[in-house]
Amino acid sequence: MHRRAAYARRVADELLVRAPVVRIVDHGASTTVIGATAVRRFDGDSAALLRAVLEICARPVGRTRLLAELAARAATTAAAVPAQPIDELVELLVGDGVLVVAGPPAPPVPSPGGGLRRVVLGISGAVAAVDAPALLRELQVAGCEVRVALTRNAARLVSRAALEALTHRAVWTSLWQRDGRAVVPHVELAEWAELVLVYPASATTLSRIATGDCSDLVAAIAAATRAPVVVVPSMNDAMYGSPAVQANLAVLRDHGRYVVHPALGREVAHRPEARSAMLGAAPPAGAVVDIVRHLLRERAAGAPAG
Ligand SMILES: Cc1cc2nc3c(=O)[nH]c(=O)nc-3n(C[C@H](O)[C@H](O)[C@H](O)COP(=O)(O)O)c2cc1C
Repeated sequence: MHRRAAYARRVADELLVRAPVVRIVDHGASTTVIGATAVRRFDGDSAALLRAVLEICARPVGRTRLLAELAARAATTAAAVPAQPIDELVELLVGDGVLVVAGPPAPPVPSPGGGLRRVVLGISGAVAAVDAPALLRELQVAGCEVRVALTRNAARLVSRAALEALTHRAVWTSLWQRDGRAVVPHVELAEWAELVLVYPASATTLSRIATGDCSDLVAAIAAATRAPVVVVPSMNDAMYGSPAVQANLAVLRDHGRYVVHPALGREVAHRPEARSAMLGAAPPAGAVVDIVRHLLRERAAGAPAG
């Protein structure tokens, strides 16, 4: 009872909102919540209450408004709605990470000119290229305009059409254009960029950038730009630890490139059932966007990010 009273006092002051991602599934009249601490199944009226709470909490609400809206749905007064089961349900949902305290939305990355930040995304032929569209979307949400260049091997792993659909722009795959009047993409993109992000950076592309080999578009953009270049290596642990790759990473650091540390990932070259976590994979899109945001903020504040 004491715990519940403390909880009610706390949430009365706080706005709660449905977490951006929840693991909840309906089946008939029951709803299952796969929470951070437990899996819970709700049936009948409890499931209906849960769904109503989640619908209302699609926008941030305090306890008083939540009770009032539930009362309105039940065509009764807030005073007539039993607060105790609702408080208990909300407490469970907060504990399971389904409802969270509403914070201010993440501000877009500030731009000195007031516009979007200009990021060139260079995608190379590591399997994490399949995640590049998700990264691109998160960069756009973070306030970046993104233009895309692919290596020829990346184009085997990720759909150019998907990237063009997301950017509403041509995606470049070659230094050479058929139409003589067309732009020279490696120069155009290199000059346009405020930041060049190579995600994922295969061992081959790392080697090209480290040695100044401009035979491929992505490496040529990295060489031709004055903007900061951020490489996100992605490969299996043996390749990542190999002397050649480590030497190239050391060169890239010496050259002032930003080198992102890898995460644990699954080696797709192994059979699906034989895969285990190993260090060397690109971090997930959200982590990469956090790093890009930080570098762009540093740059906007005048710190030496180049
Ligand atoms: C299915 C598949 C997945 C691959 N994944 C990776 C990878 O994760 N990291 C990597 O460095 N190379 C990977 N490779 C090898 C590269 O595609 C290859 O080294 C190529 O030369 C990379 O060229 P690029 O950097 O010009 O795209 C993969 C190859 C295949 C066929």
